[in-house]
Amino acid sequence: MKNTIIAPSVLAADFANLQRDIEMINSSEADWFHIDIMDGVFVPNISFGMPVLEAITKHAKKTIDVHLMIVDPDRYIKTFKNLGADILTVHYEACTHLHRTLQAIKAEGMKAGVALNPHTNVSLLEDVIQDIDMVCIMSVNPGFGGQSYIENTYKKVAQLKELIVKNNAATLIEIDGGVTNKNAAELVRAGADALVAGNYVFKAEDPIATIADLKKITSL
Ligand code: DX5
Ligand code: ZN
Repeated sequence: MKNTIIAPSVLAADFANLQRDIEMINSSEADWFHIDIMDGVFVPNISFGMPVLEAITKHAKKTIDVHLMIVDPDRYIKTFKNLGADILTVHYEACTHLHRTLQAIKAEGMKAGVALNPHTNVSLLEDVIQDIDMVCIMSVNPGFGGQSYIENTYKKVAQLKELIVKNNAATLIEIDGGVTNKNAAELVRAGADALVAGNYVFKAEDPIATIADLKKITSL
């Protein structure tokens, strides 16, 4: 049975009750904390930065999955390691020397992830797939939570899965944006290993039950 990783996105938490929301995730069946860092340059929005991440990691008891939506991420690799990141994901579109960036992340002892915007073809990763621990396929345009899922994502997941198998790589596939109970099972059938969910979890009447349900419907 497939054990799909569920990664609630803290971007959709109540920042005035951050500790409460972190403890809620701690006590749920969720596997990771997904942390969105936006710089207002790579994406048209600014989320939160280092002091907030420090506050989160002080209470979080699960894997910290950091998604950098920033230009020139190489400048902050060490910083995010020190802040407690376990997985550090950079955007393909923000890295001129992606291979070097991936090695630098791994040299700090973190797992290295690469995120792809909806317009970026998965075949562009062919020459580095062996070096990537996780590919994050954006199923919305990055920058905001609460957007609708882009249907073309299913096709991209299947193509990426094929690329991974063909190259004998151990890369995980993560999906980020607009994930709900309507698309979760199909994404896993297409090859997804980890699902990020922001609004669907945090704005639910019962987030703990919503996480348990996502976990259940993706155990195929
Ligand atoms: C979008 C972020 C996502 C976002 C997902 O730029 O990378 O992680 O928080 O939120 P939902 O699940 O609400 O689309
Ligand atoms: Zn994200």
